Amino acid sequence: MKVSIEVNGRAVAEEVPDRTLLVHFLRDTAGFTGTNIGCDTTSCGACTVLLDGESVKSCTVLAAQADGHAVTTVEGLAEPDGSLHPVQRAFREQHGLQCGFCTPGMIMASVSLLNDNPKPTRDEVRAGLEGNLCRCTGYHNIVSAVIDASGQEVDR
Ligand code: FES
Ligand code: FES
Repeated sequence: MKVSIEVNGRAVAEEVPDRTLLVHFLRDTAGFTGTNIGCDTTSCGACTVLLDGESVKSCTVLAAQADGHAVTTVEGLAEPDGSLHPVQRAFREQHGLQCGFCTPGMIMASVSLLNDNPKPTRDEVRAGLEGNLCRCTGYHNIVSAVIDASGQEVDR
């Protein structure tokens, strides 16, 4: 079927098999490989993107379900001049990046979390990111990064 999705502000329209997952459409058809595949079983969150502004695990959504909608991947967060999104900046400054495989999904989930709750507590950040796994167990710094991105003092 023909699927048309606005990815990071760019219209991508392509003929794909009906069962194509959104994550494969983003990586293989649209070329945005920042969205990672960590499990394929909805457990790791590495594939998290924003679908019309809401975070979704793109390995559990068919490309067809996103037809006519807008998707933002990690590549769509920085400004055109390369300035980082506040969440990206905070992950860098708070050392929330380790091997980095989970990072795009963590960042997209964090952006969504802060959209819903601009001043979360550390516990609320932990609850909000519980669907995202970091196998390097870098959670402490990741939580600090989200607190920092929210404009709150990082209390260690
Ligand atoms: S690849 Fe989607 S949740 Fe792991
Ligand atoms: S930084 Fe390594 S899995 Fe998260």
